[in-house]
Amino acid sequence: VCSCSSPKYFTFAHMTKKMSSNFQRRKIRVVDVQLGHRSYSIKVGAGLLSRLGKECAGLGFEKSCAIISDSNVAPLYAAQAMESLNLAGFNPVLVTVPAGEKSKCWEMVQACHEQIAKHRLERKSFIIALGGGVVGDLAGFVAATYLRGVDFVQVATTLLAQVDSSVGGKVGVNLRAGKNLVGAFHQPRLVLSDLETLATLPMREFRAGMAEVIKYGIVFDAELFNQLEQSMAKLLDQDTRTMAAVIERCCEIKAAVVWQDETESGIRAILNFGHTIGHGLEAISSYGNYLHGEAIAIGQVAAARLSEKLLGLPEEEMNRIEALFQRAGLPTQVQLNEGQQQDLIAAMQNDKKVSAGAVKFVLTASIGKASFGCQVPNELVVSTLSRLRGTA
Ligand SMILES: NC(=O)c1ccc[n+]([C@@H]2O[C@H](COP(=O)([O-])OP(=O)(O)OC[C@H]3O[C@@H](n4cnc5c(N)ncnc54)[C@H](O)[C@@H]3O)[C@@H](O)[C@H]2O)c1
Ligand SMILES: [Zn+2]
Repeated sequence: VCSCSSPKYFTFAHMTKKMSSNFQRRKIRVVDVQLGHRSYSIKVGAGLLSRLGKECAGLGFEKSCAIISDSNVAPLYAAQAMESLNLAGFNPVLVTVPAGEKSKCWEMVQACHEQIAKHRLERKSFIIALGGGVVGDLAGFVAATYLRGVDFVQVATTLLAQVDSSVGGKVGVNLRAGKNLVGAFHQPRLVLSDLETLATLPMREFRAGMAEVIKYGIVFDAELFNQLEQSMAKLLDQDTRTMAAVIERCCEIKAAVVWQDETESGIRAILNFGHTIGHGLEAISSYGNYLHGEAIAIGQVAAARLSEKLLGLPEEEMNRIEALFQRAGLPTQVQLNEGQQQDLIAAMQNDKKVSAGAVKFVLTASIGKASFGCQVPNELVVSTLSRLRGTA
């Protein structure tokens, strides 16, 4: 019996046709995010970093700017970014923060503000985030708050940043009390996703980003899911055309969902598929055992199992979902003892999406459709999890 109060289904058939016709043709792809005067382009392709200066010149920015990057990415790509900006007549300063989630904090915001003030960035100056989601969220928040907001460009260098964190305009930092508790909406003027930068990304990080890619197929686009099934090997090989097409599609989906949410509140929740259990797993493994993408891969397979029980997701589709995560090299199950299972339930209760004691889930009745606000009894979560425990 489905206990969803009022399941809401979302498919966007008119949008799903586009991919099959365009798949694998063009090398550089552009997603135009239509937000009135805040509209901007996301460009996806190989070698875009060397065009950074030209692209920024096209936006009519003032000369002085700052690149904010991290200690892994800066040694690899900052010189190329600086050179491209210099050639286009800009005067960039490089601010490098330590790599890792810990840099998403107030202290680092302040340190960045001090650095860019020293370099005399002004109201018409701009800030470039060069890195993954951590740098994007931090630099975006620095840009949102410096002089009450300066322009912001993202050069996304992780798969997760290219398909998820660079779209939607959410920027911010963590508090000791929890993740992403301080933030703002600050849309970038431009996003560049240079596929060549993914070549240096550790494979584990790349696979983790793939968990979000698969998510878009499950909650929104059966055609994308099919394409992922057909071309997972090429994607793991980072075939440029296949990657560009898939990343473009993910950006279109996230932009469409986020935009729709501004008017018809609620649909953004479908992007949390697999995240309730995923966040719980991240919390009980004390933020470190699992990368976010690994935790939500397990969470999505569990959510699919719950969907089988509650929404009649066909077994065959359940198996396809599990198989696709496995082919991407992502974990699909977890070994938890009794105590850890209780901790996980408690951690999920602490997550935001709880009402009247019942944890709310995003579920899927069939690949490409999601419904949110589903109440799932704790006992069922526990039994699904114990099924996760080694028995697959
Ligand atoms: N704003 C949003 O809407 C949104 C959405 C999802 C996630 N996020 C945030 O994104 C963050 C996670 O992002 P992430 O997974 O990109 O993590 P990350 O930025 O920490 O990058 C992962 C690791 O890869 C390294 N790296 C990045 N690019 C590289 C490259 N090209 N070559 C070699 N190494 C590289 C980084 O230094 C880091 O060590 C979290 O803080 C999360 O809260 C934000
Ligand atoms: Zn996520």
